[in-house]
Amino acid sequence: MESLSERVERLREQIRYHDHRYHVLNAPEISDAEYDALYRELVHLEESHPQLITPASPTQRVAGGVSPAFGTVGHSLPVLSLGNVFNEGELRAFDARVQGELGAAAPVPYVVEPKIDGLSVILSYAGGLLRAAATRGDGITGEEVTANVRTFPSVPLSLPAGSGIAHLEVRGEVYLPRAEFARLNREREDAGEPVFANPRNAAAGSLRQLDPQVTAARRLRAVFYEIRQLAGRRPAHHHESLELLDELGFATPESRLVAGSDEAYAVVREWEERRHQLPYEIDGAVVKLDDLAQREVLGETSHHPRWAVAFKFAAEQAATRVLDIVVQVGRTGVLTPTAELEPVRVGGSTVSRASLHNEDLIRERDVRIGDRVIIQRAGDVIPEVVGVLKGERTGSERVFTMPASCPACQGPAVRAAGEAATRCVNPHCPAQLLQRLIHFCSRGAMNMEGMGPAMLEQLARSGLVKDPGDLYFLTREQLLGCERTGEKTAGKLLSAIAVSRQAGLARVLFALGIRQVGQRAAGQLAAHFGSLSSLMRASPDRLQEVPEVGPRTAQAITEFFSRAETQELVDKLARGGVRLELERDARAGSWDGLSFVFTGTLEGMSRVEAQSRVEDKGGRVAGAVTAATSYVVAGPGAGSKLDRARRLSVRVITEAEFLRLLTEE
Ligand code: IVH
Repeated sequence: MESLSERVERLREQIRYHDHRYHVLNAPEISDAEYDALYRELVHLEESHPQLITPASPTQRVAGGVSPAFGTVGHSLPVLSLGNVFNEGELRAFDARVQGELGAAAPVPYVVEPKIDGLSVILSYAGGLLRAAATRGDGITGEEVTANVRTFPSVPLSLPAGSGIAHLEVRGEVYLPRAEFARLNREREDAGEPVFANPRNAAAGSLRQLDPQVTAARRLRAVFYEIRQLAGRRPAHHHESLELLDELGFATPESRLVAGSDEAYAVVREWEERRHQLPYEIDGAVVKLDDLAQREVLGETSHHPRWAVAFKFAAEQAATRVLDIVVQVGRTGVLTPTAELEPVRVGGSTVSRASLHNEDLIRERDVRIGDRVIIQRAGDVIPEVVGVLKGERTGSERVFTMPASCPACQGPAVRAAGEAATRCVNPHCPAQLLQRLIHFCSRGAMNMEGMGPAMLEQLARSGLVKDPGDLYFLTREQLLGCERTGEKTAGKLLSAIAVSRQAGLARVLFALGIRQVGQRAAGQLAAHFGSLSSLMRASPDRLQEVPEVGPRTAQAITEFFSRAETQELVDKLARGGVRLELERDARAGSWDGLSFVFTGTLEGMSRVEAQSRVEDKGGRVAGAVTAATSYVVAGPGAGSKLDRARRLSVRVITEAEFLRLLTEE
């Protein structure tokens, strides 16, 4: 029999192994569920035997509570920056200087790495354990961010026992992958919070969070590219250092060993070409001498090493003119100033608008209507005004002032103390309603296909839809009364509405557009509470049992559900047949939550067979048609059930369509 402590240690090893597969190698070997089972077993054993807990246990990444305000740490060695070059000539000049100082007769090998646009961190390990993590700071002292860095699943908490390495100091880069950056900003926008200008700022802001749980939720990553100190084993070349880091479980950047500056330059160009395909932002490439003994010969200045250089890519910027600054009203009432630009091509596409985010940013950058400005576009990120060509001002430029009232409803616009956003506080503002409806129906929310901004605007303007709940009571006749809506469109809209009744609790929660509640929080809330009614009854303390929910979010949720109009909306959704409970098993199959009613004769299969096909996919078969039925499959001879389906606007399909559904998903 395995002893308890052996079992615990083995679980930890397995979890470390799978963390590394998943977060460093991007090659998981087990399912999330299998991983969760290992993790839960470890948590359980540690809870019942707390004497077995060690600081390097994977359960100790978030130690709980608030990290002490960041202390400063003196670095053991200066944390240097890099010199820059901007073109081929400058790179060759760097190489010539290196060769000259080394007295080298032949080209010297370099390693080329991407220059990741994040922020430097230094990790120190002693006795095989991660002891401290610090930011670069001014290069002499940095901020201590250990509790936050421990939450990154890609950072080893301990070095492998068999490596023979106990003391190590490494330098790397913390960054936010593009996809996470986009998600974070989407959620912030939804929550009415100011968005981050770029992944670098987002990474910096996320690393410097007092609550490590918040850092953990941001899903930062880190790669490590320099060994600063190492006792014992000493690699002779940089590429071997990278291999050693790999071996110790660190994520390392992509790297290329090249024979000299010709090849180095070719690699730099190659990466510049595909910079947008990388999962993170890079602002250049770093060319580093491979031979560590040669590095010693070259030494460093107080600012940068003489053995490496950053080749900076040209930023994707262009100059254009601000034609106007208009204010857009978001669904939470946030007024977002947006620059309308003379169209200009940047980074492969034409840009005619750029977000100015908020009043402070406009003032800080001093952007005026009529200004010539520099705009920047990085990948898929919303274009931004990064600078003003003040020298080109003629005096006719106009300073923008945030309106005191909402441009859509003329209600008061209010800026709360300590907030960057100005909001329209009229709950009946038509622009907010429209944005709320658009959000409600959007793909990530209730996913009502065909229910786009133009249709919603008509429905809102005509007064048929005063809140999202009204969508579930629309009749065919009402839809037919809208512009450009014939039988076919009306039918499609009705089935899209019907299908969305089964979208599930997580989507409903997200669709409601509660401030601070993005898709992730919505998913966690749904899983935790199981039904809207139990969530609505939960105290702020209970809400905070959900990992993604902090005090601010809990308060926003409580506030949202205490409003009379929310109560009314929830009632309507319930009466309209929207499922407000958790799916029985969210992962059971693609038809989870869908219900089918069969009527008339099936020609290709028996009822029993049809039922088992539906159940295999996670769906359910019912005998009677209700507003909550997803599909009625009607064959020849269908009778009252078909009539009832039509009356309730439930989607009716033929057997052939049913078969197509079965095979296509
Ligand atoms: S080497 C002494 N390698 O770029 C070693 N730096 O502009 C100097 N950076 O502060 C750093 N990716 O934060 C190195 N592959 C990479 C890098 C990298 C990004 C950052 C680093 C540094 C900044 C200098």
